[in-house]
Amino acid sequence: TGFITFDPGFKNTGITKSSISFIDGEKGELLYRGYPIEQIINQCSFIETSYLILNGELPNTAQLKSFSEKIKKFNSIHKEINKILDNIPNSYHPMGILSSLTYILDAFINSLREEDLYLHLLAKLPILAALTYRKKIGVPPTYADPHLDYTSNLLKMFFSIPNQSYELNPIISDALNKILILHADHEQNCSTTTVRLLGSAHAGLFSSISAGMSALWGKLHGGANQAVIEMLEAILKSGGNIKKWIEKAKNKKDPFRLMGFGHRIYKNFDPRAKIAKKVAENVIQQLGISDPILELAKEVERKALQDSYFLEKKLYPNIDFYSGIIYQAIGIPKEMFTVMFALGRLPGWMAHWKEMKSNKDPIGRPRQIYIGYKKRNIKKN
Ligand code: CMC
Repeated sequence: TGFITFDPGFKNTGITKSSISFIDGEKGELLYRGYPIEQIINQCSFIETSYLILNGELPNTAQLKSFSEKIKKFNSIHKEINKILDNIPNSYHPMGILSSLTYILDAFINSLREEDLYLHLLAKLPILAALTYRKKIGVPPTYADPHLDYTSNLLKMFFSIPNQSYELNPIISDALNKILILHADHEQNCSTTTVRLLGSAHAGLFSSISAGMSALWGKLHGGANQAVIEMLEAILKSGGNIKKWIEKAKNKKDPFRLMGFGHRIYKNFDPRAKIAKKVAENVIQQLGISDPILELAKEVERKALQDSYFLEKKLYPNIDFYSGIIYQAIGIPKEMFTVMFALGRLPGWMAHWKEMKSNKDPIGRPRQIYIGYKKRNIKKN
């Protein structure tokens, strides 16, 4: 009853008061707890950034040490989880596996302290991601290495081969750190809102995060990173005629969109895309590889930004446009891209869940404009 605001897609609806991240879409600015993303990327590790996002302030040395050690304490999963994973068909998408395992993880966690739950997830999600990847490529499971920092451990869990020593490459660790930081939070995006919405009904943390992952999987959201690479590969395969693909994206009768372009809030460059482009260029150059996909991506960006359709609609590259190129350069296959996004977004999802609880936000329950039948009577013959 009363006046209902009609706002499909919540384009103009503020659903909460938040102090985690801030986006100025006109200026192309992103702040985590007040700090510009450009400063964080050069001065912080992903785990420091996670602490900042979850707790509101950057950790001092002692706080960071204690945070990292607490995470390491939870650095293992129950063997039943391995069995569940064994029984999931190998053809299932890694995002479906990650989301399902995150959900069921809850059944094997005894701790009731909320603070511990955040640490469990930070510790266990990389293990689930690595196990998912290893199952896909047919390599036996692995364990976390407590002697390594967060991202190095993640890399080792993904790529180490049994009975062989694994040599960490600092260039790869650095690129991974940066790409995870770029994903750490992004105010009320679709998956974060999903997490908050579940939390508002007093659903548990693990099921809320699992639901967030399911939302992230969608192609218009985090699934775009895989879709971008698939699009770029298709452009290459079809002869590299970029103009043709741009025309296809502009054609309203064709559902195709230029993947990795456009954003609900950024009506100027997505600052994360600018950083991701630089990271992609650096990692490819430092590793001494040549990637025709990077050159193609830059050309697609250049051509799209010369086109009045993209300029008038203010459609610029978003984070997903270059992130896949970084993942590929560091050895992560495209089916795993959105999983990497989820690992990066985890601190953000948890911080929003925590904030939603401390705000005592009411249950999320939008209204609708009913356009169905008027009241009528059943007539059976
Ligand atoms: N290619 C072609 N046209 C586009 C594109 C695109 N990538 N994005 C938006 N448009 C057009 C759209 O057709 C619409 O035109 P019109 O006003 O004539 O109907 C106009 O631009 C506004 O688009 P919208 O869909 O109303 O905008 P939105 O805020 O609802 O959607 C978006 C934002 C990101 C879903 C959309 O831009 C899109 O589908 N992009 C491609 C998928 C993508 O890259 N997603 C990643 C988003 S960023 C990170 C993340 O969330 O994971």
